Amino acid sequence: MSDPDEPQLEARLVEQEAFEPPESFVEQANLTDPGIYDEFEENWPECWEAAAELLEWESDWDEVLVDDDEPFYEWFVGGELNASYNCLDRHLDDRGDELAILWEGEPGETREFTYADLHREVNEFAAALREIGVEEDDVVTMYMPMIPELPVAMLACARIGAPHSVVFAGFSADALATRMNSSDSEYLVTCDGYYRRGDALDHLSKANDGLGGVDHDTTTVVVDRLGDDLDHDLADGQHDYHELVEAQEGAEVEPVTRDAEDMLFLMYTSGTTGQPKGVKHTTGGYLSYVSWTSQAVLDVKPDDTYWCAADIGWITGHSYIVYGPLALGTTSVMYEGTPDYPDKDRLWEIVDSYDVTQLYTAPTAIRAFMKWGAEYPGRHDLSSLRLLGTVGEPINPRAWKWYYTHIGGEECPIVDTWWQTETGGMMITTLPGIGTMKPGSAGPPLPGIDARVVDAEGEEVAAGEAGYVTVNRPWPGMLRTLYRNDERFISEYWEAYSDPEADEWVYFPEDGAKIDGDGYITILGRVDDVINVSGHRLGTMEIESAIVGVEGVAEAAAVGGDHDIKGEAVYAYVILEEGYEEGEEMHERIIEGVEDAIGPIARPEEVIFTPELPKTRSGKIMRRLLVDIANDDELGNTSTLRNPEVVEDIQRKVAGD
Ligand code: PRX
Repeated sequence: MSDPDEPQLEARLVEQEAFEPPESFVEQANLTDPGIYDEFEENWPECWEAAAELLEWESDWDEVLVDDDEPFYEWFVGGELNASYNCLDRHLDDRGDELAILWEGEPGETREFTYADLHREVNEFAAALREIGVEEDDVVTMYMPMIPELPVAMLACARIGAPHSVVFAGFSADALATRMNSSDSEYLVTCDGYYRRGDALDHLSKANDGLGGVDHDTTTVVVDRLGDDLDHDLADGQHDYHELVEAQEGAEVEPVTRDAEDMLFLMYTSGTTGQPKGVKHTTGGYLSYVSWTSQAVLDVKPDDTYWCAADIGWITGHSYIVYGPLALGTTSVMYEGTPDYPDKDRLWEIVDSYDVTQLYTAPTAIRAFMKWGAEYPGRHDLSSLRLLGTVGEPINPRAWKWYYTHIGGEECPIVDTWWQTETGGMMITTLPGIGTMKPGSAGPPLPGIDARVVDAEGEEVAAGEAGYVTVNRPWPGMLRTLYRNDERFISEYWEAYSDPEADEWVYFPEDGAKIDGDGYITILGRVDDVINVSGHRLGTMEIESAIVGVEGVAEAAAVGGDHDIKGEAVYAYVILEEGYEEGEEMHERIIEGVEDAIGPIARPEEVIFTPELPKTRSGKIMRRLLVDIANDDELGNTSTLRNPEVVEDIQRKVAGD
């Protein structure tokens, strides 16, 4: 629960200070000219050709932006390219012997893939995918932890023009089935298991359970990650990855020519309703945008040993472990395990031993490092680091300063990057060689990005006032639609602020924010029913329907309460049916129900049994009040409640009386 020393989100701006980019960084930065903001503004949308020009195209685009059918924008129209070619083949002449992926397993072994190695394996696996029947435009699902075969499989799909849909390995079997059904995906690439805190975890059983819930025939490829540590059997229709690849030894697969607007991948994310949304990203715009932002914001250069310590199962890993860094020909570090195994200095040991140059991670991780103490990074030489980044949730100034001091040695700029699964890449952040940093504030919108903070009518708010983020112009990395659901795409993201009559289209990310006199934006968090637990996005409806699915539960409300490390945690308020007893057993069953339906990340921090939920006279659950109760904050206005007496009961329960 909240720490009295910790300023609340709303109060953040009060104690803000400013830090200039360190001189040693500026001297070598990819971008140093503040004129870039005006340049992009004056030359919009053609400015985005600078991003597309970071790639190699088979044929050039005819038009940078087509907006005939808003909000279905198209970028680099007429252009043709292949993402796998751009991440691999084109680096072979100059950088074939340089490392593309430097992977460390949790037990400590390393696997190194030069660009030539990665090219070879991707070609062999692409040939194998074709052999088992995958054709262009078939959606291939991946349900894999952080092992090198995951990016190999993604790039192999990209090579043959088959969009991938990666499902985070921590998600449950049910979540896998929902996503495979929703995308009609007939192919799954998974693995036998992986290591977590020294244990060999079975993953294949979970994948198989998920396949049991898929309503069509499937073909599966299984990577043997655990060898003798965990035996596994393959069922009919399941192939061993290594056998498939061996059978294709030396195979070369011509990269399939894709239109700029052809789908590169689908990524499911949570929204207001229970059904996850299949965010569609395309080949030309997405790849251009993640390459440009990797270069501009993360300062990636080919000779770097760059580390984004996210999971590829989320958008951050797609954009900034796989596609952005590899398109730029750098070395991307991957780590399989947790940061506290075998000890709490594991990350710093990795930075030290590989001379990592950039580290990009989430505020949740930084808050945990801060709690563990400076002695852990203090054991290692971190002087190879040149830049630090954060993503996924607001960072409190205290954690920012700790990161700056104890990890960056006050010599690394920090980029606090605000973006979303839907935006494909970063949208609001300082440019590290140019912008003053203000701890707690992400910064101004990137050049070419028209992000604003507005009131409910769409008018820009005054400095210091809270409002909503909007993006008032398209950008190359934007989602193109929700898979097979154009209507929901429009209603979720465009309806709130657009004026179709006037041909004004405004994207609404569903985040609250403040803006200061310098145009710096401080993100305050989601304004929809989405909880951000450790930087992971969870829909309250998904959690509630999991809880209501438990026998004996009549009604449930899930909200996000403050949490020291995770940022937010799930609080579940539950009403039982008559005849069922509150208590440990019911509590366990509810936790299990959530873990089975979604995964352990959605596990409620607390389950509070209550005879009633606070409701308005029109019968709507007053969630704001439940959040206040979870945070032990002063309660907002309760006068509109139909049943105000229930509030005190719930408060007593939360306080443990
Ligand atoms: O609320 C914002 C928060 O994460 C949400 C997007 O989640 P997701 O699509 O899973 O993507 C996470 C990784 C890009 C946003 O709507 N968020 C993301 N970055 C920041 C942030 N909140 C504050 N500061 C950030 N830097």
